[in-house]
Amino acid sequence: MREQETFLDRVLTIETGRCTEAAAVAASTMIGRGDRHGADQAAVTALREAFNKLDIDGTVVIGEGERDEAPMLYIGEKVGTGKGPTIDIALDPLEGTDLTAKAMGGALAVVALASGGTMLHAPDTYMDKIAIGPGYPDGTVDLDRPVEDNIESLAKAKGVAPEDITLCVLERDRHNHIIEAARRVGSRVFLISDGDVAGVIHTTDPSTGIDMYVGQGGAPEGVLAAAALRCVGGQMQGRLVFKKEEEKQRAAKAGIRDLNRKYSLLDLCGGDVIFAATGVTNGMLLDGVRWEPGYVNTHTVIMRSKTGTVRYIKARTRR
Ligand code: FBP
Repeated sequence: MREQETFLDRVLTIETGRCTEAAAVAASTMIGRGDRHGADQAAVTALREAFNKLDIDGTVVIGEGERDEAPMLYIGEKVGTGKGPTIDIALDPLEGTDLTAKAMGGALAVVALASGGTMLHAPDTYMDKIAIGPGYPDGTVDLDRPVEDNIESLAKAKGVAPEDITLCVLERDRHNHIIEAARRVGSRVFLISDGDVAGVIHTTDPSTGIDMYVGQGGAPEGVLAAAALRCVGGQMQGRLVFKKEEEKQRAAKAGIRDLNRKYSLLDLCGGDVIFAATGVTNGMLLDGVRWEPGYVNTHTVIMRSKTGTVRYIKARTRR
């Protein structure tokens, strides 16, 4: 039985990558067309179609929004044939809608699968996040500490000076204080215009030169990034940020009682998880979709927390 479960798990990992491939290819037809909603819609339709071919009893727990505002892949929507294992699905069919619309680098199609009840059902709000890669003592950084202290602590754990630490930050006015604090202690700041799922994942890959992700981004993206970190290692904390009353109501609907809770990596994504992402436009994590006569080329990463395996797949598919 256990062997069969492992086999199903492994098959599902590859199939999840097929799903993100489909979403990325569909989104790629909209690169540079200045239509972020059209690009998102193309990815959503393709991802849903791909999921519905899978023998899973899937429920979207992080999706395109509430049922009344999203026609497809809404929170609570059932996907798959209904025949296989019961699975919670967190998805962002197009992470970087603006990046795609403007033909800028770093857009991804992203999915995480986990057994029921183990991923935070993050509402569509913001989240304060901090993340570092693997290999550091627990508690090296903390969301509640000033940026300078986190830099100093990480530098010490890494055995380098604060000048040798690089932070990845979304370029937003709300992050000016973070950027200024980092520069005050001599650290570098790697600014991204969008796409903080990749921003968090970059901390786990020494070749990016990025040591820490910090700042406020989407809460759903926070859970997706946590899913990836569960597979590759690393530390992360997050706290939901509520700017409007209706966001608090959404959180209550998602079963969240303590609105001020600081979530650890395991709180964000606690069980065994499968993570997959396919590049839409070229980025540091993945190449974008590349078309050639009769074929389309994709670049996908699939990971599994149970084994820690990270697999990069370059696929050339007939079209
Ligand atoms: P979309 O693809 O939904 O546009 O999200 C892109 C993104 O940059 C996320 O990666 C990030 O978490 C969020 O938007 C930040 O939100 P905002 O643009 O409102 O600062």
